Amino acid sequence: MNVINNIRQLRSWSTINKGTRCVLVPTMGALHEGHAALIRAAREIAGQNGNVAVSIFVNPLQFGPGEDFSKYPRTLIEDLGICRDNGADMIFAPKAEELYPTDRSILLQETSLSQLLCGASRPGHFEGVCTIVAKLFNLVQCDDAVFGKKDYQQFAIIRRLVRDLDFNVVLHAIDTMREEDGLAMSSRNRYLSPEERAEAPALRAALVAARTSWKNGERDPKALERLITQQIQEKAPSGRIDYVAAADATTLQPVSATTELVVIAVAVFFGTTRLIDNIELK
Ligand code: PAF
Repeated sequence: MNVINNIRQLRSWSTINKGTRCVLVPTMGALHEGHAALIRAAREIAGQNGNVAVSIFVNPLQFGPGEDFSKYPRTLIEDLGICRDNGADMIFAPKAEELYPTDRSILLQETSLSQLLCGASRPGHFEGVCTIVAKLFNLVQCDDAVFGKKDYQQFAIIRRLVRDLDFNVVLHAIDTMREEDGLAMSSRNRYLSPEERAEAPALRAALVAARTSWKNGERDPKALERLITQQIQEKAPSGRIDYVAAADATTLQPVSATTELVVIAVAVFFGTTRLIDNIELK
């Protein structure tokens, strides 16, 4: 497994590997079983002869003031072990100075999907995500890229990025990995106190209850949102709901007559830790 931390070496790796299918898993490190599943999925897509590249970079541009950039867990040694064990061929783990010149002056802005849900409470977040993902696609020259469905909005926006800027990259969304009690795996779960950790599975339970109600015929998005809100308030009293939203899975706009697939997304703060989850109604 090659570990690369500068652009010059990355470019020569890409030149040497030209013609070999390359599947990228972009991450911010602090890898857990959810990331391991993404790397294994990338391995399958790449096949025996392809390359699996994992980027590990805590992207300062996607953290707002007061967010957890400085305390975001950095566990490179353990991360490299997880990458190796799950079949990665190349790790790109640059420092911020390598990717961002001090006088950088370009930011990529998505102007529709990023205004809602997480984008409404994290202004500038998706500009940071779009900018780094575009840079990684350019740098790694990947053919495919793998993302987790837990970050549903992020995936929808990156799909737009690829479409609107003509990146020649095939995107793959992989199902969320969960703890036994249903909590979506996340690098941020480690911030939860024992009491908050005990309450956090309420997000998944409420989403599943909404899906059951939908399967039983409830089609009113507001009724489903109310059901989820009530359940989270009951089962996770220390949580503070940021949003509960039923949306069109492609446009992320409110559900309309043209909606083919509905996703319900939630974000809940436990202290300063913000957890997200979602469910597709099908
Ligand atoms: O999902 C993440 O971990 C990050 O947002 C990503 C896509 C690696 C960009 O920094």
